[in-house]
Parts: sequence; structure tokens; C-alpha cells
Amino acid sequence: MPTAKSPAILASNMMKSYGPVEAVRGVSFSVAPGELFGLLGPNGSGKTTIVRLLTGQIRPSDGSSRVLGMDPAKDPVGVRSLVGIIPDQANPPSFLTCEEYLEFVAGIRKLGDVSGSITAWFDFLEFSGDRKVLCKDLSQGTRQKLMFAQAFLHKPAVAFIDEPLINLDPIIQEKIKAYMKDHVARGGTIFFCTHALEIAEQLCTRVAIIEKGRIIREGRVADMRKRREKLSAFFMRAVRGR
Ligand SMILES: Nc1ncnc2c1ncn2[C@@H]1O[C@H](COP(=O)(O)OP(=O)(O)O)[C@@H](O)[C@H]1O
Ligand SMILES: [Mg+2]
Repeated sequence: MPTAKSPAILASNMMKSYGPVEAVRGVSFSVAPGELFGLLGPNGSGKTTIVRLLTGQIRPSDGSSRVLGMDPAKDPVGVRSLVGIIPDQANPPSFLTCEEYLEFVAGIRKLGDVSGSITAWFDFLEFSGDRKVLCKDLSQGTRQKLMFAQAFLHKPAVAFIDEPLINLDPIIQEKIKAYMKDHVARGGTIFFCTHALEIAEQLCTRVAIIEKGRIIREGRVADMRKRREKLSAFFMRAVRGR
């Protein structure tokens, strides 16, 4: 088991190729418990591939990783049973209602009676009216609310979220941002992929910038604030300085 000091997430020289496409080209980083770590980069830079590697959905071509001390390549089911995931372009099962989907997730995670917390999620994200609506009939934004609720239903020690705030109205975005900040303040870890720099600046404790499958720069957001440097300027300097 990981100790309090061991990293929540550790990547060591991870690589992933799809045929001739080198999606991830030797990526190493460490994320401590309580960090809200932002992986920032343009479209196609490798963010989603890294989330898939860390959650055992695909295996690395080379290198390795640990999540809560476990190797996602060797124990993908063990990793996925502990973490929360909001995948890129996630679609909940079309044939379940929102409520049935959350009950289904709670069942898989063996959470017992979660009817109270399911109701609390519908209230918090303001979609109680969609409780009995089939997932296939949801708007994109409501689908994202549902995916957020399923990822955090078991209050995971580590959550991977891939572009979770697109399509959400500003009120819900603010609520989700506040929830994420609170989650890490309580010791949880969030791995947050986005190309929305403004959101990352408000949320992240630390960021890594990825370009063409390589991390080109890392920094603490508090240090940028001290230097009065905007995250967008940090990002541009990293990308242009190469
Ligand atoms: N299953 C796949 N098969 C082939 N190429 C892929 C696959 N998944 C991703 N890629 C390629 O890998 C690169 C990184 O993609 P991705 O990780 O989705 O980037 P991001 O999430 O940063 O937009 C892109 O060039 C993409 O086209
Ligand atoms: Mg992506």
C-alpha cells in the first residue's frame, strides 16, 4: 500500500505508439496526494492517451506507471475499482436512465445504499428533472453532469478527468470547480486534462504542458502568480521557446 508520502500517480518514461503514430513519447511525472494536477496541451498532444494508460484502458509500448501504488498495466481492474474516471467524449449506456446508471455504477463499486447521495448529486448539479430520462436522450451538458456524478460517487482517492467542463453552463461550472477544489483540500488527487487555460489557472495547483507526446514544461500555479505571470503566457513561452 502507498504511504502518505508516496505519490498518488507516478509515470516513468511512458510511451505509446499506434502503428507509426507516437502518441506519447517518454513521459515522466509524479503527482502527490492533494494535488490538482493539470495536463495541458493542444488537441492531439497525447492527453487522452495518458489518461487511458494511467487507468489501464491501454498498455504502454514502453515505460510504466503507478496509481495508488498499483500498476495499471498489470492490474487495470484494481486501479479502476479505486479511481474515478471521466473519459474523453464519454457516453453513459443509452438504455439506462440517469438514475439507473448511477445505481449501476454504485452496484459495480459495491457502495451499498447510495440513494441519498444519488439524490444529493441530482440536486447539486441541478438535473433532478432528468432522473428518469434515458441517457440517449440527454443533452451534451446533462450527460457531462451525469459523468461527473458517476466519477465522484465513491469519493475516489484519485480522479482522472478529461475535458469535463466543456458544454456546461457557467453556474454548473462554478459548482464543479468548487467541488474539485474541496475534493483536493480533503486530500484527494485530481488529474485534469484540458486545453482551457483559464479554467486550469483557476483550479490547478501544478501543471505540465504537453506537446506532440512530450512534456515540455512543468510549473506551480502559485509560483506563476508570484511572478504575476498568466498561465497562458507560461504556456506560450513553453511552446514558442522550443
Ligand atoms: N486509438 C488510436 N489509434 C491511432 N491513433 C491514435 C489513437 N488514439 C490516439 N491517437 C493519436 O495519438 C495522438 C494523441 O491523441 P490524444 O491522446 O487523443 O490527444 P489529446 O487528448 O491531447 O487531444 C493523436 O495524433 C491521435 O490521432
Ligand atoms: Mg483528448
